[in-house]
Amino acid sequence: MRLFFALWPDAELRAGLASCARACQQVSGGRLVSAESLHATLAFVGEVDPDQRTTLTALADALPTAGFDLVLDQVGYWPHNRIVYAAASVTPKPLSDLAQTLARQLASAGYRAEKRPYVAHVTLLRKALRAPQGVASEALLWRIGEIALVESVREHDRLVYRPLKRWTLVR
Ligand code: 2AM
Repeated sequence: MRLFFALWPDAELRAGLASCARACQQVSGGRLVSAESLHATLAFVGEVDPDQRTTLTALADALPTAGFDLVLDQVGYWPHNRIVYAAASVTPKPLSDLAQTLARQLASAGYRAEKRPYVAHVTLLRKALRAPQGVASEALLWRIGEIALVESVREHDRLVYRPLKRWTLVR
C-alpha cells in the first residue's frame, strides 16, 4: 500500500479549497482534485507492507498534539509536475516543526528520508496547462485540528485518498 501523513481539512475548508480550485481551472485548465481528496501532505511514506501500519501509527501517536493555524493565501503552478496548488506565504513554526519531527522519526525507523525542504501545499489541479495568473484567491484560514495517515489508491485512472487513521490536535 502507498501511504502518507497529511493535514486533513474539515468540510468547510474543503469547500473553500474546491471553489478556489474551480476558479483556477478556468485559467489553468487541467483536472480538478476531487473535493474529498484535498489535503496537504505532511510526510510522504511511499509503498509499505500492510503490517507496517502499526509502526507508522505508533510514530504519529508520539507527535506533539497542539493544533495551529495556517493561512492559505497564495495559488501557484509548478511547471515540472504541472500542478496548481494553494499554499501559505508564511509557514507557521509548529507546522515546520511537526513536518521535521515526523521526517526525522520516519528516517530513523528506516523509511525513505525526504531531502527537499518542507513546502506545505494543497494540490488543486493536475495536468494544468498554465499558471493561475490573475486568479484572485481569497485567503483561507485553516484551523488545523487533524492529522491523518492516508492511503493512496488508484481507482478508474484516478488517485483516491482514504484516511486510515486520524489524530485530533488540541485547539
Ligand atoms: P502532490 O499533491 O504535490 O502530488 C499523495 O501522493 C500525496 O503525497 C500527494 O499530496 C503528493 O503530493 C505527495 N507525494 C507524492 N509523491 C511524493 C514524493 N515522492 N515525495 C513527497 N511527496 C509526495
